[in-house]
Amino acid sequence: MSNVDLFDKIPNNVDLKGDKKLQRALERWQPDYLSWWNEMGPVEYQDKDIYLRTAIDVDAEGWAQFGHVKMPDYRWGIFLAEPVPDRKIPFGDTMGQPAFQEVPGEYRNVLRRIIVNQADTEPASVEQQRWLCKTAPSLLDMRNLFQVNVEEGRHLWAMVYLLQKHFGKDGREEADELLRRRSGDADKPRILNAFNNPCPDWMSFFSFTMFMDRDGKFQLAALAESGFDPLSRTCRFMLTEEAHHLSVGETGLQRIVKRTAELMKENPGKEMKDLGAIPLEMIQKSINYWFTYSLDLFGGEISSNAADYFAAGLKGRFREEKKYDEHTALDQTRVVTTVEDGKLVDREVPLRTAMNEELRDGYVEDCERALKMWNRELEKAGVEQRLSLPHRRFHRHVGEYSKASFDPEGNPISADAFEARRPEWFLADADFEYLGSIMEPCHEVGKIANWISAPVKGVGGQPFDFEYVKL
Ligand SMILES: [Fe+2]
Ligand SMILES: [Fe+2]
Repeated sequence: MSNVDLFDKIPNNVDLKGDKKLQRALERWQPDYLSWWNEMGPVEYQDKDIYLRTAIDVDAEGWAQFGHVKMPDYRWGIFLAEPVPDRKIPFGDTMGQPAFQEVPGEYRNVLRRIIVNQADTEPASVEQQRWLCKTAPSLLDMRNLFQVNVEEGRHLWAMVYLLQKHFGKDGREEADELLRRRSGDADKPRILNAFNNPCPDWMSFFSFTMFMDRDGKFQLAALAESGFDPLSRTCRFMLTEEAHHLSVGETGLQRIVKRTAELMKENPGKEMKDLGAIPLEMIQKSINYWFTYSLDLFGGEISSNAADYFAAGLKGRFREEKKYDEHTALDQTRVVTTVEDGKLVDREVPLRTAMNEELRDGYVEDCERALKMWNRELEKAGVEQRLSLPHRRFHRHVGEYSKASFDPEGNPISADAFEARRPEWFLADADFEYLGSIMEPCHEVGKIANWISAPVKGVGGQPFDFEYVKL
């Protein structure tokens, strides 16, 4: 089945040649995609050779090829993970029946919504990050940014393939709309709120890839369990690429923490700002912001939609097949802390309605692991302060906890108290100004900006001092 057409106009392993109608639709969409990329992709360096990996197959070994390419020449392709023979729907009401190869009529609208919501985040993040190339702390970081960007572009292709292949005319219209919405645009914003927020500096970029792309990992993993097999196979392959995005974020923040910790150790009593470094309080504020926005992306704590998706076998839990023994989630409950008349009240709800919260659990756990790693850098340098994740009730715009205000420990506070303490918890204009002032681009091969430490290794088998971007 893995017949990869690498030299087609659109590289693919889905036998596009065998479906002329689909091939024509996608080839018609391709130039629009490229115009979007040229208009909304990275603001500079489009004509430079960048050391990028390109997906060329779906084998665990050797699925990607590294080499210098110009971004507009990147070979954005359509790749689905290999099918699992005789795959069955792994959970929900129709568990054990053959997986859907076509969209079941009754779930058509729901599935389209799930796919469009996921798809919309892919170009949105490219738009949010388009200015960052001007201030990259090293050539390797610049290359990593571009790698993330071209792969988000490929994820858009992956989702557009599903829309055009399985949803006819509506699918084609949705595919066009994905290129028309713009992150942060007042009239045509991106669908999910967090994808309209600006990402103005590299600490925000690392926080974004750490927290928002990690939400992506959990959403894709839940959809990789889907009984709609084409979606499952698409997401399984996207997860392969996604892993790099998360590690860019996680290690990026670690490198910032490490640099600050070193400077704190070498310069006791000195202000980090006087040394051009990023104070720990600012790192904490960035965590507060992006972590809480990413929590919103999982949806409401109690959600009938989530219950329906699970019942229909469309969206499972994280590692549904591997981690759980029981896959109907019927006759089970979970306690969710709700907000009633401004008070916290524990309520026992059917487990299926708490699926968003279940997915969020795995996510929070994964974030805690990264926090531990960053805190180890502080420990190693003998610095006493620690970074932490705020409570999941803090600063929420979606779900139960958006009904009231909470402090970072999760205690209810008044809306006024929240506003009064906002500068304590989030970066303010002056902070962004400072961050902007220290983020001078660093373009020398093997050199790194002052506010971050160099990565311990390079990418694609190359050392750190490699010409990742040919300027
Ligand atoms: Fe993505
Ligand atoms: Fe990503």
